[in-house]
Amino acid sequence: MLSAEEFATLRHARMRWNTPLSEEHAALLLQRLEVRSGVRVLDLGCGWGELLLRAVAGGAGAAGVGVDTDEAALVRGRALAASRSLGDRVRFVREEAAAWREPADRVLCVGAAHAFGGTVGALDALAGVVRPGGRLLFGDACWEAAPGGAAVRIFGDAVLPLAELVEQVRVAGWRVLHLSTADLREWDDFESTWRAGRQEWLLEHPEDSRAAEVRGELDVRLREYVGAYRGVLGMAYLVLGR
Ligand SMILES: C[S@@+](CC[C@H](N)C(=O)[O-])C[C@H]1O[C@@H](n2cnc3c(N)ncnc32)[C@H](O)[C@@H]1O
Repeated sequence: MLSAEEFATLRHARMRWNTPLSEEHAALLLQRLEVRSGVRVLDLGCGWGELLLRAVAGGAGAAGVGVDTDEAALVRGRALAASRSLGDRVRFVREEAAAWREPADRVLCVGAAHAFGGTVGALDALAGVVRPGGRLLFGDACWEAAPGGAAVRIFGDAVLPLAELVEQVRVAGWRVLHLSTADLREWDDFESTWRAGRQEWLLEHPEDSRAAEVRGELDVRLREYVGAYRGVLGMAYLVLGR
């Protein structure tokens, strides 16, 4: 029987990172971010910091800090860093992203704009933590197609259409060095891996006292994905400078 803590880690167990992103796409984004030797990298809302670790590993002498409020994710990040001999170059800090003040040369904020009150708040706040001449990798949800009522009910009315997101980037004073969006296969893989940790457990433990709740949550999520937001909710990745 899994302990409550072990059970909680199942949710993200099959995920490489907590965003719809292929290996190839990630490599492109990190290339566009240009992590040069010796730079300081900051990841706000880092989760377990897979992108941060790759960014730091890609720049000789680079060092980084990951900031998140989820202690379990930070524990996973520290273990990953140690397993890649990056423990002395990457720190994981439990803190509110919006409270972080120390600027860096390269800043990542992927899927965590809500920690700054949403897209516009994040674009403004992140300007304060990117050093002059630095770059920001901003990953944010957007509508790629007009959402139906069900999608708006799930994600709220603060999600912007892609064109409006790009306009807000301009208004906030950023220049776009790179723009790409997650494709359908990346979304399918993200959704599948989000469910997979607990789906696999469920198949092995159909009689567990937690099974009914897990089955219900997974069913709802899959139904919402294919019924309301597959091909509608997008994820934009922008490499920005100012
Ligand atoms: C969608 S996940 C993305 C994680 C990571 N950037 C990645 O791409 O794998 C959003 C992350 O934001 C973190 N988060 C949410 N609110 C936060 C806050 N107020 N301060 C810091 N992190 C926060 C969550 O714990 C979660 O790890």
